[in-house]
Amino acid sequence: MELFDTHAHLLDERFDIDRDALITSLAEKGIVHVLEACCCAELAQDTIALSEKYDIIYASLGTHPHEVLRMEQAHLTLYRGLLSHNKVVAIGEIGLDYHYDFSPRDVQKRWFVEQLELAIEHKLPVLLHVREAFKDALDILKSHKDGLSGVMHCFSGSYEVAKECLDLGLYIAFGGALTFHNARRPVEIIKKLPLERLLIETDCPYMTPEPHRGKRNDPSMVRYVCERAAELLNISADEAARITLSNGRELFKIQG
Ligand code: NI
Repeated sequence: MELFDTHAHLLDERFDIDRDALITSLAEKGIVHVLEACCCAELAQDTIALSEKYDIIYASLGTHPHEVLRMEQAHLTLYRGLLSHNKVVAIGEIGLDYHYDFSPRDVQKRWFVEQLELAIEHKLPVLLHVREAFKDALDILKSHKDGLSGVMHCFSGSYEVAKECLDLGLYIAFGGALTFHNARRPVEIIKKLPLERLLIETDCPYMTPEPHRGKRNDPSMVRYVCERAAELLNISADEAARITLSNGRELFKIQG
């Protein structure tokens, strides 16, 4: 099975003890690509360095809604200067998070728009983090429809929201939550989505899938998400892996 983990945070300090060994072991576990999602400007250079060090790692640059309170124009300039790097394939993760509200909503919206416009200007897809903020996020996305491409990461919305995302040309990514025993909405929604818009991810070290929930997550565990997705879609795990790998390559313009 060849798998693409489209959303990881391997620079998280929880990987400090074994980062090299872990990443080196991924290929033998069937992981062919990992997209490292940067969360703040301070990590931009390290994200690029990680992608330069390992063939399988690609980089996404951006400031997470949790971190935008500290964002400045200089960070946007920094990202802009790094976008021509051949391993940078996306902007993100960016979006709105009204669940935690770590940054005031007007600040979140301002930087979401600025980063979205940067992505569109550079013809790059966006990694979208949207939590309990779908109305505002969709309003912003709809007003930036032209040239928009990207993925709703760790999708937690309703089927109606998923349909609006599909209409905007977005992909929908599912992670560990799909495997949870109490998962309701994602397991229903995934069955109704077109296969050509599905992606899988880990969001590691968070969101560890069953049967390892509670432990640290890592990109190799995207296999459990793939297997659960396959089960829900009534296809083989190999088929689910093949489709999501091909979708990911298409969206992020990665050669096979
Ligand atoms: Ni994330």
